[in-house]
Amino acid sequence: MLMKVFTDFMGWIDKRLPVTDAWNKHIAQYPAPKNFNFWYIFGSLAMLVLVNQFLTGIWLTMNYEPSGEGAFASIEYIMRDVDFGWLLRYMHSTGASAFFIVVYLHMMRGLMYGSYQKPRELLWIFGMLIFLVLMAEAFMGYLLPWGNMSYWGAQVIISIFGLVPIIGDDLTLWIRGDYVISGATLNRFFALHVIAMPLVLVLLVFLHILALHEVGSNNPEGIDIKKPKGSVKPEELSKFTFHKQYSDKYDIVDAVPFHPYYTVKDIMYVVGFLFLFCWVMFFAPEGGGYFMEAPNFTPANGLKTPEHIAPVWYFGPFYTILRVIPNAMLGAIGMFSAIIVLFLLPWFDRGTVKSVRYRSKLHLFNLIQFAICFVVLGVLGTMPATPIANLIGAIASFGYFGFFVALWLYSKNENTKPVPERIAD
Ligand code: HEM
Repeated sequence: MLMKVFTDFMGWIDKRLPVTDAWNKHIAQYPAPKNFNFWYIFGSLAMLVLVNQFLTGIWLTMNYEPSGEGAFASIEYIMRDVDFGWLLRYMHSTGASAFFIVVYLHMMRGLMYGSYQKPRELLWIFGMLIFLVLMAEAFMGYLLPWGNMSYWGAQVIISIFGLVPIIGDDLTLWIRGDYVISGATLNRFFALHVIAMPLVLVLLVFLHILALHEVGSNNPEGIDIKKPKGSVKPEELSKFTFHKQYSDKYDIVDAVPFHPYYTVKDIMYVVGFLFLFCWVMFFAPEGGGYFMEAPNFTPANGLKTPEHIAPVWYFGPFYTILRVIPNAMLGAIGMFSAIIVLFLLPWFDRGTVKSVRYRSKLHLFNLIQFAICFVVLGVLGTMPATPIANLIGAIASFGYFGFFVALWLYSKNENTKPVPERIAD
């Protein structure tokens, strides 16, 4: 009886909006390669963290006061007096760090399996735009508690824009809305953090998934599961029903429907992730001073610079590149270039073999050294700039950019292994 009511209701909806068709196309009948591994869970986890940030953010906003006079005190009020306010705040602040951990691992997967290569360049670009907006979102969010590190961190980053020739001074004035960082800056960062950036993020994630489903998922073997129509013997085709959008155009092999196969798998990992997340949130919400920095427990004070201004850990790699280049202008160019090269990755890689499993030893080495350099840069970004730290930072920056240059050089005539036609059982 209940089932019939539901079917009738969905029938009524579907005649007016193709909900069932969208569900089938993107979830229940989406052909997903059968060999997704651990590295493929981070897309779903990123969505989960995004939802967490939205929900906790909305409830934080209900008690937060976006003004220079009231912001710091309103955060204290949320932490002490609002029912479960501490939980909302820790979910949001731990969520921010979790977001970057998940997204960095998600990007690393893309690097390992060549998921940025043709035909997934646009998907990668959308991913990079998400990354850029995410950084802006996190940066603006960090000003909102109006702690002393919020203030001075923003001071450092906004002053970088002052280096732009001719319009630099006007640009920083325009960003701050004042001659110094003030309540006016806080107001606009609040507006951008709670409305503008989240809207853009949601739009970009939507486009990211649409672009993914247009070209189809890559996999750890880097072998396409979509073969030209008519090229595969009927007995070798995947036994499942896939949405006609895919099966009319291609012969699909070695695939399973996303639901229930990967929904169930993802739920398992979501539970594991939530255990870890809750552990941090309940037992180490400050993340040892990395998720929440010590100077941020005192209110913003334009007359008292923290002893050592450091960005939150996730900006570390880019901050180190900025800092190790002695000339401020060149440092800023270095930092922005570190992001631009990532955008251009699909064109730095001139190879056709996708997965690191079938690429040369040189590529494997290049990828490992890149990952190490990235972590080293990140660690250095949270430490004071001593001469030895600067030297290590310079070497790691060299390794970071070297990855792209070397890739461009060797990928054209790389000594790759033969790639199998099909994904093995
Ligand atoms: C809010 C942040 C993000 C969300 C919610 C998100 C979501 C997803 C989801 C659900 C998938 C499909 C499942 C999977 O393959 O893991 C995916 C795939 C992908 N994403 Fe993201 N993503 C985000 C950020 C990024 C970023 C920053 C990049 C890189 C610059 C990126 C690059 C990719 C690529 C290349 C794929 C295809 C992977 C493959 O098929 O092998 N994504 N994303």
